[in-house]
Amino acid sequence: MTSNAQKILVGVAWPYANGEKHIGQIAGAYLPPDIFARYQRMAGNDVLMVSGSDTHGTPVTLKADAEGLTTAQVVDKYHELFVEGCVAMGLTFDLYTHTDTQNHWDVTQQMFLRHLEAGYIYQAVQQQLYDPQAKRFLADRYVEGTCPFCGYPEARGDQCDNCGRIYDALELKNPRSKITGNTDLEVRETEHFFLDMGKLNQPLLDWINTGKEHWRPNVLNFTRGQLELKELRGRPITRDIDWGITIPLAGYDDKRIYVWYDAVIGYLSAAIEWAGLVGEADAWRAWWDAGVNPDALIYNFIGKDNIPFHTIIWPGMLIYNAGEGDRLNLPYDVPANEYLNLGGGKFSTSRGRVIGFNTVLRQFQPEAWRYVLTAMAPENADVEFTWQEFMERVNNELVA
Ligand code: MF3
Ligand code: ZN
Repeated sequence: MTSNAQKILVGVAWPYANGEKHIGQIAGAYLPPDIFARYQRMAGNDVLMVSGSDTHGTPVTLKADAEGLTTAQVVDKYHELFVEGCVAMGLTFDLYTHTDTQNHWDVTQQMFLRHLEAGYIYQAVQQQLYDPQAKRFLADRYVEGTCPFCGYPEARGDQCDNCGRIYDALELKNPRSKITGNTDLEVRETEHFFLDMGKLNQPLLDWINTGKEHWRPNVLNFTRGQLELKELRGRPITRDIDWGITIPLAGYDDKRIYVWYDAVIGYLSAAIEWAGLVGEADAWRAWWDAGVNPDALIYNFIGKDNIPFHTIIWPGMLIYNAGEGDRLNLPYDVPANEYLNLGGGKFSTSRGRVIGFNTVLRQFQPEAWRYVLTAMAPENADVEFTWQEFMERVNNELVA
């Protein structure tokens, strides 16, 4: 901890604890940071590699509904399964935790209160899709429809899987309830907390236009394109659901913090948790606290669907969290990969199109997977996985 080596935080996207992960996710977001972290350690740098299971939000509650389990049971089951896969694959996390720790709740609620007290979170009444048959508001993945931007017919309430844009569920065309299939939805009013992203548009544009030559063009162009529209505005960061981190104020027992507000905070809370575990409570500051070490490099390894959350929302949350003499480091780079697809379509845990991470590790050695998934890595374009190519690469390249 006292060494002068370059501090490198390798923040790895937090996988939802909602099913067995698939080899596309491993190729895109889990193996690359492990290779990077191993390289940086060999080069003598001080690497802290953290992640954990993303346990909140509608991806988890939908799975619980589907499996007839409680949300807590779903989280336990899939957290354990992923940890087992990581160990088998030899991924070298310094800490792999999850978002249902007391520490993560504390760090999240502190940031929420800080944003609120500084006036960056405000309350407003919002129009939300409501399913009268289910008698529920349709938060995020409880509604699907046609993307208002690209026309993809299976776009979700908070994000389109095809074009990656994020929007308000009311903008979806032909919305339908995932609970009942109902297309006869109502629009009802509900009060929520909003993160005032509008005031961040220019600061984020200035940030993205300075010293980002090392960023991948796909990440930089997408982010700059979004920011240049100058359309950032308040974004609701609470939901009418009963699973997630509670709002640290009286009178909101029936609402929870939006999963994407808390999950990105995990990069920070996990470093704090790690410091506690190694018995040096302030050790996390060497990577995060700009007052202690502004030269630390924070990398976030993700899949391309996570780009706007890591290059717009999370940096915005960090900028808003800053006080006098109290700043956290912003991401230095956000290497996002494209997708490794399966026979003409996206792998998708929630849609049941998968070649499972744990399953394949029971069939072939981790070395074979590490080699093939690295050789095929979808760095610049989507890549199609076939068993034929797996076999040829193992036999003709690795074994040969
Ligand atoms: N759980 C999200 C997903 O699987 C990723 C969260 S990344 C984090 O798409 F930074 F927010 F944690
Ligand atoms: Zn779209």
